[in-house]
Amino acid sequence: MTSNYNIWQLYGLKGNPFTTDPLSTYGDDLPIEKSFFGRDQEIEKTKKIIYSNKTSRILVYGEIGIGKTTFANYIKYQAIKDGYFTPLGELSIQYNWTPEEFMFNTIGIIYTTIDRTTGLKEKLNVGLAQKLNVIFGIDRGYSKGGGASVAGFGGNVDYGQSFGVTMLNSTSLKLLLQEVLDELIRLGFKGTIIHYNNLELIQDKGEPQLKRIMNGIRDFLQVKGAHFIFVSDSKLFELFQQLKRVEDIFQVPFLLLPFKIGEVNQIINTRLQLLRISPEINPIPPFEDGTLKLLFDLYSGNLRGILRSLDCAVNETVTSRPRTITPNILKAALFRFSKNRFLSKFTRENTITLKILKRILEKKETTNKLLAEHFKMLPQNVSTALTTLREVGAIKLSREEGRAKYYVPSQEALWLLLEPSPDWEGQTFLE
Ligand SMILES: Nc1ncnc2c1ncn2[C@@H]1O[C@H](COP(=O)(O)OP(=O)(O)O)[C@@H](O)[C@H]1O
Ligand SMILES: [Mg+2]
Repeated sequence: MTSNYNIWQLYGLKGNPFTTDPLSTYGDDLPIEKSFFGRDQEIEKTKKIIYSNKTSRILVYGEIGIGKTTFANYIKYQAIKDGYFTPLGELSIQYNWTPEEFMFNTIGIIYTTIDRTTGLKEKLNVGLAQKLNVIFGIDRGYSKGGGASVAGFGGNVDYGQSFGVTMLNSTSLKLLLQEVLDELIRLGFKGTIIHYNNLELIQDKGEPQLKRIMNGIRDFLQVKGAHFIFVSDSKLFELFQQLKRVEDIFQVPFLLLPFKIGEVNQIINTRLQLLRISPEINPIPPFEDGTLKLLFDLYSGNLRGILRSLDCAVNETVTSRPRTITPNILKAALFRFSKNRFLSKFTRENTITLKILKRILEKKETTNKLLAEHFKMLPQNVSTALTTLREVGAIKLSREEGRAKYYVPSQEALWLLLEPSPDWEGQTFLE
């Protein structure tokens, strides 16, 4: 497909109505104020916690693609209007972070935002500004003319040498955060909202790492003037519950659930309205009701899965003329896409890999052990197939329970379930 024209213009739209990016706090083609839909109760409760406490820790969890990042962005959007400060963007907690790195990066992102905000950095208390500059800014690691003393909070700083997180212990980092937050309040903000995305990244290192980070940052998270929003997928939440001491420091966690079909319809229709090229031009409907229904069922309402499928179907089928994606066009396009992506990778000798994939698609979630039992195979051989399937992105690990690892199909692999008719090299993929 050539890229010298914009397919969305052919539809009468300014941009892609099926983008899967989270809605941004700061707005773009799809301003969050107008594009955000629903979640009224959760928003009400979250705002109540933030607005009536000096400090809070909020956990938002739910399946991938359900709208967690967008939810946190919307809270921040509202809070900014109501006089709160929030760093630009969110922090992604890396699985190998130490508690000190967590704290260091938190203050760093606040500093960067202050530094970029005209009118704000000038007002910052000079001593604090210098201190921050030495730690995070252009003067990082260098103390100019002895002006910025870091000795007060850092311990042994070797002047003239670069120093980083290792120089600052958790007590000094907590004090520094407190100093910055107090200063923001002095400058007129009601508080600071800090958003950590994808907490589940920690999970790769399992329970000990979660414990280590959370225990290490407990005090840091109690600092007055800060509201911490943690976003995580559901599997991490299960882990959380097992760690009583960790769970204790959070306010009631919020589970975000999938939207209903009417709501998904409304979300996409709002996008179509917002993206209209002009009021006189009526956009061509990019899909039919039946198409949405099919995807809604396939993804049990998962918004990102639905949007991605529509996006892929348009990309695969529309060349020079806009088309309304009917259920049949959708099935053909998405099945073909996944057939090329996955099935073509497995030759005849690999039929067992294919059978295992099929079984995972049917079962929606299963384990190595269950597969071995079903196919009367050795677990090692099932493992080999599972590794191959993971490598090509057809399946992913959904959760672990003791020693059992549960696997689910990837979002694209689900498209194999849309096989339109028995034409895959003369044989059907599905029975
Ligand atoms: N409340 C909402 N209103 C409108 N669109 C939403 C809403 N929640 C999510 N979306 C859209 O759904 C997609 C997935 O949302 P995202 O926040 O990235 O999910 P998650 O963080 O849970 O993986 C994004 O394209 C986003 O714009
Ligand atoms: Mg997200």
